[in-house]
Amino acid sequence: SLRAVSPDDMSGRHVLITLGPTREKWDAVRFWSNPSSGLMGACIAMAAWLRGAEVTVVSGPVNWWFPDEINVIKVGTAKEMFDACTDVWSQCTTGCLTAAVADFKPIPHGEGKFKKAGRDSLSVDFDTNPDILKTLGSMKRDDQQLIGFAAETSNIQESAKGKLESKNLDLIIANPINVPGAGFESSTNSVYVLDRAGRTEEWPNLPKTEIAWRIWDLLLQN
Ligand code: CTP
Ligand code: CA
Repeated sequence: SLRAVSPDDMSGRHVLITLGPTREKWDAVRFWSNPSSGLMGACIAMAAWLRGAEVTVVSGPVNWWFPDEINVIKVGTAKEMFDACTDVWSQCTTGCLTAAVADFKPIPHGEGKFKKAGRDSLSVDFDTNPDILKTLGSMKRDDQQLIGFAAETSNIQESAKGKLESKNLDLIIANPINVPGAGFESSTNSVYVLDRAGRTEEWPNLPKTEIAWRIWDLLLQN
């Protein structure tokens, strides 16, 4: 198999990966979400598995194929993703959180389907969701490593450094989400990488499969 002929340099690791968007329900037929495809996370999960790791994927509502050996936990809301991740994190050696988690959730309208009749405008109030990556970072032991992503439209390097520090990460991968060939719904990405020691790299316009492989190369060097 492909796994048998791939390097075995991640065996002994148990990797947790989050991917895809979350969906925050508002009424019986509507939700708040984003266009994340989950492809970057799926590539990272497959690369870790090919290299011999045990892999747990916590997936938002997207449908990537994974081999049977990969444990896939399907979730909808950020709260469900949070619960799944905090349950397994203590058994993992490595986390890589790529999911585009909704920072806020609409306060549900109530039971059933919201009706438009008699209204000419609508405002919705939101509550905050828990920060999954920050929570795992605060629980992180010396024998665990944690990788985060940063989706940015401006000040990429500065924002990435802020997130690396505030979430207690070992590595952060920042991607611009407003340039062609990067970010959401793209099969390629352009990323800026920063580690805890302050080392930086720039990988412009590569397929997400290749970026996934390089992320593990870099983590294994650390
Ligand atoms: N993340 C998470 N849980 C959240 C929000 C974000 O686990 N509730 C993770 C993402 O999976 C990503 C990292 O945190 O790995 C950064 O997400 P991003 O949206 O770029 O940053 P935020 O900290 O949410 O800040 P902002 O959206 O304001 O830039
Ligand atoms: Ca966010």
